[in-house]
Amino acid sequence: MFQINHNYQKLQAGYLFPEIARRVNAFSEANPDAAIIRLGIGDVTEPLTPAVLQAMHAAVDEMAQRGTFKGYGPEQGYGFLREAIAEHDFRARGVQIAADEIFVSDGSKCDTGNILDIFGKENRIAITDPVYPVYVDTNVMAGNTGPADQSGRYAGLIYLEANEQNGFVPDLPTEKADIIYLCYPNNPTGTVASREVLQKWVDYARENDSLILFDAAYEAFISDPEIPHSIFEIDGAREVAIEFRSFSKSVGFTGIRCAFTVVPKELQGATADGKKVSVHQLWNRRQSTKFNGASYVVQKGAAAAYSEQGRAEISERIAFYMNNARLLCEGLSRVGIHVFGGENAPYVWLRTPAGTTSWDFFDRLLTAAHVVGTPGSGFGAAGEGYFRLSAFNSLANVEEALRRIEAVL
Ligand code: MLT
Repeated sequence: MFQINHNYQKLQAGYLFPEIARRVNAFSEANPDAAIIRLGIGDVTEPLTPAVLQAMHAAVDEMAQRGTFKGYGPEQGYGFLREAIAEHDFRARGVQIAADEIFVSDGSKCDTGNILDIFGKENRIAITDPVYPVYVDTNVMAGNTGPADQSGRYAGLIYLEANEQNGFVPDLPTEKADIIYLCYPNNPTGTVASREVLQKWVDYARENDSLILFDAAYEAFISDPEIPHSIFEIDGAREVAIEFRSFSKSVGFTGIRCAFTVVPKELQGATADGKKVSVHQLWNRRQSTKFNGASYVVQKGAAAAYSEQGRAEISERIAFYMNNARLLCEGLSRVGIHVFGGENAPYVWLRTPAGTTSWDFFDRLLTAAHVVGTPGSGFGAAGEGYFRLSAFNSLANVEEALRRIEAVL
């Protein structure tokens, strides 16, 4: 009989969010009248803003005319979007990123997984704990780990614990890590990394010939002017980092799908015999072979988010979600819950009441308050005893969720 990818057998249970959805659906079927408020998966709720919507409508109309119809686009993304990104996300912040170092895609979840195609199996991979589960599971699928232990940790991975003591920014590894995943503003803890901290990581990567995979999907939510939005704001990062960015949460594209990955031309990896190879060329080769580009209509929408009107609308949208985050932090603190994050990220990370595990707290909120959150332990062993609430919802739902949570605590 044909064989499957045996690495899939090592994966623990289901992927976190479908597992939560399964439990919520079961509860909902048994309690059809319960008005459930979902603050679990970080999925946007507010509709597209006018500038983005108009651009997408116009792009659809172009598709209706022979003269402006578009077939396959460039696998790396259209020049108009790559230029807009380079200008507004990087040059405007004093960071030199060329348009052709930007690879537009249909999501940074896919990109963070797909990037493993171009790296060898010999690399020691370091991830933080807690962590966005995609980094771990895609490494398991790629055969970069051994089996999981009782706590769900996989042999072969280097786990860097992020906890209250270190402000959820782990210490440097004590063993050599070849590839390091960092995500700031952080999912799930909602915390941020300072310039000094990021400089320390870049210096480590340079000293150890390591690569940093920097997930900046939530950078648009940073309000503190001292916090870097990009790893490329850090000296020396161009030789040691790849950055992932997303339009999902900022522009409201979780369903529409558009993201990008920045691969600087200086970045080089090694062959088995020590020859240096351009990572930019490898990723370009991978994308041209396995990807046909994000849709034109979607890229037009993404580009419109950089217009003057688009930027104003997106800032307003971000302020709206961040007001929800503030309300969550304040409301939970009022009832004695210890909260983290929520100031420069749309996630609030909270310590569950003493003696309550993350999944117990999940069940309690679901059954007693009809509020869905995400158990911290779903993000890794070090997330046990914590819980994540997302700020993506309507104001009315956030206020109602807070009332209900306060009532059951
Ligand atoms: C989350 O809730 O952690 C995110 O929505 C997941 C994602 O962006 O894939």
